[in-house]
Amino acid sequence: MGDEHPGDHYRGHPHGDDGLAGTPPMGWNSWNQVGCYGLTEGVVREAADEIVARGLAEVGYEYVVVDDCWQGGRDEDGVLFPDPERFPSGMAALADHVHGRGLRFGVYAVPGRETCANFYDGYPVRDIGSIGRERLDAQTFADWGVDYLKYDWCRADETDGLDRVEAFIAMRDALRATERPIVYGISEYGDREPWRWAGSIAHLWRTTHDIRASWESVNGIIQRQAGLERFSGPGAWNDPDMLQVGNGALTTAEQRTHVGMWAMLAAPLFLGTDLAALPGEVLGIVANPEVIGVDQDPLGRQASLVADRGGLQVWARALTEEAIAVALLNTTDQHAVISTGLTDVGAPAGTYLARDLWAQDYLSTVETDLTAEVGPHDVRLFRLLPVR
Ligand code: GAL
Repeated sequence: MGDEHPGDHYRGHPHGDDGLAGTPPMGWNSWNQVGCYGLTEGVVREAADEIVARGLAEVGYEYVVVDDCWQGGRDEDGVLFPDPERFPSGMAALADHVHGRGLRFGVYAVPGRETCANFYDGYPVRDIGSIGRERLDAQTFADWGVDYLKYDWCRADETDGLDRVEAFIAMRDALRATERPIVYGISEYGDREPWRWAGSIAHLWRTTHDIRASWESVNGIIQRQAGLERFSGPGAWNDPDMLQVGNGALTTAEQRTHVGMWAMLAAPLFLGTDLAALPGEVLGIVANPEVIGVDQDPLGRQASLVADRGGLQVWARALTEEAIAVALLNTTDQHAVISTGLTDVGAPAGTYLARDLWAQDYLSTVETDLTAEVGPHDVRLFRLLPVR
């Protein structure tokens, strides 16, 4: 991990220059919490309130994003409106509520005719996709006060004959034309290696299919990020999908790994669970300021997989101030001791102060190796700071 980082070339691209998503976006999104039919303006308002009440805004959670199934249809001018029963106050009022909490507001849209819920959840409202109406929809969103758009492919190639690069560019240009700063996150599930082409189109792009609240899903996604680090950097991020913390049967160790590895990967951090019900221990994981500090480090360098010995892994990334973040990840079902040489994580010879980021405490100084015990499915995170 020398001074040169292939992600650097993105610094000159249009998104790197628009000042948006200089660090990976953080916030809450409705999908992993309520899915389609449980989505109401009340759920969204409460999420915004809880982000503030539970101290999450303070550590950087900022965007409150309404995912699929908010749509109620189009009026006689073709303008989108929300479901009148579940969103009786309307989207502009909801955006105001979110802005009133000092947060930013986002919505979901699709490039074809149908949203994913039309395909997969039997969502009955039709003609809500943006095909042929990109400018109109982008302007509607801007008028409401939208700050973030999640633009989701679904099956727009099969059903509408769209080309994904052209379709994602069409909405990028429509958003730009509004002159409102709107973070643009796209998703085509990593199917056509978007890391190779999306850096000049969007601020973030999904790299995988949907995450589930299980260890197999979380660990499977982590493993598929190795090698993608060279495509990510400030203003243009790989997105391994939203957090499932608080959902399903993930153990505490697995939730630490989920959040800790997303931080190592410079991933967008979107909570998707009932924040009022989040146990204190889990809140401590998602709001750990030092772990979030790794995610949000201004260099924006996604971690590389440096070693893998039978599922005992070492990941590392360079940070500002010549520091290095190291993750010792145990993907096996047994307790283990994981060790790495400092040169293997890119640390020039010298003495380093090792900070344990979960404990928020200094371990000791280290000189040649870093070694720690790691429980099954758990991760230990360290920040190595050169001692002068
Ligand atoms: C999927 C997408 C999910 C969610 C869902 C809504 O395609 O990956 O994150 O947005 O559609 O229907």
